[in-house]
Amino acid sequence: MTTGPSLTEGDEPERLQKVLSRLGIGSRRASEILIAEGRVVVNGTVATLGDRIGPGDELAVDGVVYTTRPDVVVYLLNKPAGVVTTASDPEGRPTVVGLVPPEPRVVPVGRLDLETEGLLLLTNDGTLTHRLTHPSFGVEKEYLAEVEGSPSRQALRRLREGIELDDGRTAPAKVSQIEPGAVRITIHEGRNRQVRRMCEAIGHPVRRLVRTRIGPLADRTLRPGQSRRLTDDEVLGLQRAIGSPR
Ligand code: URA
Repeated sequence: MTTGPSLTEGDEPERLQKVLSRLGIGSRRASEILIAEGRVVVNGTVATLGDRIGPGDELAVDGVVYTTRPDVVVYLLNKPAGVVTTASDPEGRPTVVGLVPPEPRVVPVGRLDLETEGLLLLTNDGTLTHRLTHPSFGVEKEYLAEVEGSPSRQALRRLREGIELDDGRTAPAKVSQIEPGAVRITIHEGRNRQVRRMCEAIGHPVRRLVRTRIGPLADRTLRPGQSRRLTDDEVLGLQRAIGSPR
C-alpha cells in the first residue's frame, strides 16, 4: 500500500492556520490574514477563520494546490550513465523505470540523455509531470558539467546571458565555475540536450554531465542507481515550487 503526502501531522483535523504555517506558507498570523482575505480554499470552498482540515482534504492557496491524494508516488532516482529515460527500450537497454519499484506504475518526469547522470523524478501524478516539464512553470534544474578545457570569463558570460542555438536563444542561466574544467549551470527550460549544446557552442564540449538539483530537491546521499520515495515535505515543497506559471 502507498501513502501520499499528508497535510496534517496526525489523523485529527487541525486548525488551518497551523497547517499553513507548517507548510511554510506564512506565520500563523500571516496565514490568518490569507484566510481572511479569501485566498485559501479547502475542498473547493473558500475557507473561513476557524476552519480545520484533516487528512484527505485538498488545500489551495492563491490557486496553488497542496494535495493529499494517497495514490500519488514520487521517486527521486540517481540515474547512472548508460540507462535510458523511458519505460521500455526496444534495444533492451536498462531503463530508469526498471530502477524503481514496479507498482504502482510511474513514468519519468522529463528526460536525461543516455549518458547524463544524476537526479530524475518518476511519478504517477500527471499534473506534477506536466508542471515540472512545462517551461512556463520555470522549475530550476542544476547541472554539474565537466567540460573540455577551461572556459574563459567571457565564455561563461555568454552561457549566462543566453546563447543562440539552432532552436533559438537560450534564456539567461546561472553559471559558476567550480574548477577550471567544471561548471555549475542552472537552467529552467529543459530543451533537448540543452546543456551539452550550450557548452558545445562556447567551444567546451561536455565530457560528463550530472544533474544535481531539481527545484528544491537535492540529495548527495543517493548512490548511482539508487532511488527513494520523496518525503511528504518534499512533495509539498515541489508543489510549492511549481505553484504558478511565470
Ligand atoms: N542537458 C543536456 O544536455 N542533457 C541532459 O540530459 C539534460 C540537460
